Amino acid sequence: MMYTIAIGCDHGGFQLKSAVIAHLENKGYLLKDFGTFSEDSCDYPDIAEAVAEAVADGQFERGILICGTGIGIGIAANKVAGIRAALCHDTFSAHASRQHNDANILTLGQRVVGQGLALDIVDIWLTTDFEGGRHQRRIDKIEQIQQREAQKQ
Ligand code: RB5
Repeated sequence: MMYTIAIGCDHGGFQLKSAVIAHLENKGYLLKDFGTFSEDSCDYPDIAEAVAEAVADGQFERGILICGTGIGIGIAANKVAGIRAALCHDTFSAHASRQHNDANILTLGQRVVGQGLALDIVDIWLTTDFEGGRHQRRIDKIEQIQQREAQKQ
């Protein structure tokens, strides 16, 4: 299945984002680039929110977010209800984040992982299905935490 993908980065992920876009467009994936569009300094929460909202709204089936480490942009994305952003710097985690966690956003750190491995991670993450079953029960519990937290506010 060729997913419709929302992609974004901060200045620390700009080069890897460009490589991921070229790689995926070459494979026929449909992407929308939410920026940033240069290596000028910017704030990763702004990009994370835009991509995460677009995925949570159902406009895009998956998202990919890239910053220097993949950490900050993933923390920010996970603040949006319904988002399960997973930081994956190895192929085992890429498989597992889909099979077990039904991750809907992949985060990567340009300063952490080489481009070749990053592209393998992206390919695996986009082509691995969620297993459901006991894993769905656990995801439902994550949603329940989110609902309880929202009620406190
Ligand atoms: C930007 O310098 C850097 O902090 C950012 O790309 C990211 O690594 C944050 O988690």
